[in-house]
Amino acid sequence: MKTKEQLLNILNKNKGEFISGQDIAKELQISRTAVWKAVRSLKNDGYSIDSLQNGGYKFSSKNNILSDIEIRNNLSDEYKKFDIKIFKTIDSTNKQAKKLIAENLFNNGTTLVADEQTDGKGRFGRSFFSPKSTGIYLSTILKMPLRLQDISLITIISALAVCRAVKKLTDSVPEIKWINDIYVNGKKVCGILTEAVSNFETQTVDAVVVGIGVNLKTKLFPEELRKKAGCVTKENVSRNVFIAEILNNLFRLAGNIYDKKIIEEYKKLSLVLNKKIKYLSNGTVVTATAVDINEKGNLLVKDSFGNIKILESGEISIKIS
Ligand code: BTN
Repeated sequence: MKTKEQLLNILNKNKGEFISGQDIAKELQISRTAVWKAVRSLKNDGYSIDSLQNGGYKFSSKNNILSDIEIRNNLSDEYKKFDIKIFKTIDSTNKQAKKLIAENLFNNGTTLVADEQTDGKGRFGRSFFSPKSTGIYLSTILKMPLRLQDISLITIISALAVCRAVKKLTDSVPEIKWINDIYVNGKKVCGILTEAVSNFETQTVDAVVVGIGVNLKTKLFPEELRKKAGCVTKENVSRNVFIAEILNNLFRLAGNIYDKKIIEEYKKLSLVLNKKIKYLSNGTVVTATAVDINEKGNLLVKDSFGNIKILESGEISIKIS
């Protein structure tokens, strides 16, 4: 591990407290000048580090930088080798991830994370509001054997991975609006855009891009989103830790994607089961009751005549009144 990474670990362990340059030098078995140089290098990377005149250092509470080192430090051992790419600004992490696939410049777990997106993509050609420093915008590439028809399961496990991170790291209570939206206190806080690069002939998937956008602390939304969008938390959660928690869960769940317990967990978090919903069928708005989610992640709805219909994708809204 480089001195800079080791120093980052020490500062992280001692968050909120000053630690003397001498103690750091002793722990890392380097000179105080080398400590000072590593501090300077971290500051050049954008970290805010408070220092005392006699050479004590601590992470400033203002620190909000995205860091591949910190993300990796919080990943489980088996995922630490995955490639994490950080961008200050990007058009869309999904778009760039698909480019990496087209150029064959990726591995399983290659992940792109951006501080802001200038052209964030949502489902159905919509855009995803991605202002800087307050949200999480990431795309991870999964290279795994999967049938094209099972692609919804990737969205299901991604939603679960985000909900688990919300539950573990905040006091907020997440709920999932089938299939890919996460809500907290009745407002959408996360959207997921899953895009498969597939082999048309064999009907198998070469790689999947999982794009996850989380309004972690975003408070200011444009007028048209204000009623619907919210943020996960007001608590001071590190984006790096949150990202690592999402990825740890996502990679673990992907390794076990056909496990029946996944759908059970997803159903418990559902915002729509047993509710009246509306969806579009051939241009007509249909009202029905959401009754179940099957093993493929499809939504089963019952119309007023008691007929069951299976919805494979698309969008539903919850009927109020
Ligand atoms: C939706 O709500 O319709 C899906 C939104 C998905 C947004 C994420 S942010 C990271 C990744 N890059 C994109 O351009 N989109 C996804």
